[in-house]
Amino acid sequence: MTGVTSHEVRLGARPAGLPKASDWRFTQSDAIRPGEGEVLVKTLFLSLDPAMRGWMNEGRSYIKPVEIGEVMRAGGVGRVIESRHPKFQQGDHVVGTLGVQEYAVASGDKGLAKIDPRLAPLPVYLGTLGMPGMTAYDGLLDSGKPKAGEAVVVSAAAGAVGTVVGQIAKIKGCRVIGIAGGEEKCRYIVDELGFDAAIDYKAGAPAVRAGLKQHCPNGIDVYFDNVGGDILEACLARLARRARIVICGSISQYNATEVRGPANYMSLLVNRASMTGMVVFDYADRYPEAMREMMGWYQAGKLKTKEQVVEGGIGKFPEALLMLFKGENLGKLVLKVAD
Ligand SMILES: NC(=O)c1ccc[n+]([C@@H]2O[C@H](COP(=O)([O-])OP(=O)(O)OC[C@H]3O[C@@H](n4cnc5c(N)ncnc54)[C@H](OP(=O)(O)O)[C@@H]3O)[C@@H](O)[C@H]2O)c1
Repeated sequence: MTGVTSHEVRLGARPAGLPKASDWRFTQSDAIRPGEGEVLVKTLFLSLDPAMRGWMNEGRSYIKPVEIGEVMRAGGVGRVIESRHPKFQQGDHVVGTLGVQEYAVASGDKGLAKIDPRLAPLPVYLGTLGMPGMTAYDGLLDSGKPKAGEAVVVSAAAGAVGTVVGQIAKIKGCRVIGIAGGEEKCRYIVDELGFDAAIDYKAGAPAVRAGLKQHCPNGIDVYFDNVGGDILEACLARLARRARIVICGSISQYNATEVRGPANYMSLLVNRASMTGMVVFDYADRYPEAMREMMGWYQAGKLKTKEQVVEGGIGKFPEALLMLFKGENLGKLVLKVAD
């Protein structure tokens, strides 16, 4: 024992629909000293991710579910308090799966990486220079295969993954159309991030179809799908020949009790198009390469970042998570846990 108290948020029940306050349990314990090969990390910022909703469900997925009573899984950045691993020193800043808790004991051998706060503010390592940024990079370049001059459409365009997808597509010389909720987000991606056009899906399905027709007169070459549902269906209806759809996420369906798929998937056949699912963890051995290129773009001012930091510590986690499903975040949503 270290004599330091750690507060945790645990999964209390599997939610039906949007998670409720009663689906969580708040506990506290003494922070445990690290064993051989481990480090004790003080959590500074936690990443809020739509995928967390899926981890709360039972059943087979790309990662095992969080068990009832277990500390909720979460990526985070923190500071090493005590190290029993030769790669890490006290005071180092690290990123890894820390969980929704104030102190975490993590293995130094897998999943924990050192980060340099002099190169970028800490929350950026949970967004553009973290897991969402890697998702955008690998999903777009490996599955989307965009070519200069092509029309790239991305949904949840003002969020953590979407902002990066659009900017990388611009770097690659594509015409980029973002789909986002509300005028403010649409203005942001065009005026601040340099997207060519934005479509406000909250204006309704006819406005989405009209926007896609106007901005993609020759069809969509790459659709990076973060939302599924009606927007996926609208994009399927407007594909160019040999289009590539990257299935990255389906946030419109994560809280649905009856999941709906697109009725018009035969558009893939008609247009000789493809639809590929991607999971960022499959690219783990390529993160260093992606990180080098992304850091280069970031330092050259070609890749802008946006983080929305929620104050209030661990206790704010349940409320902050819901912001993602209400579209209340601009850029990467992060919870501040400690100074
Ligand atoms: N495959 C992978 O390895 C991987 C890795 C990371 C993330 N993802 C996925 O990528 C997607 C984006 O994640 P993120 O971390 O970047 O989140 P985010 O975009 O920063 O936040 C989620 C956004 O989704 C939008 N949204 C919420 N409900 C919606 C609905 N019913 N219809 C349309 N849009 C809705 C909201 O923006 P609006 O205001 O625009 O509605 C909200 O801000 C998610 O689907 C996530 O699961 C996948």
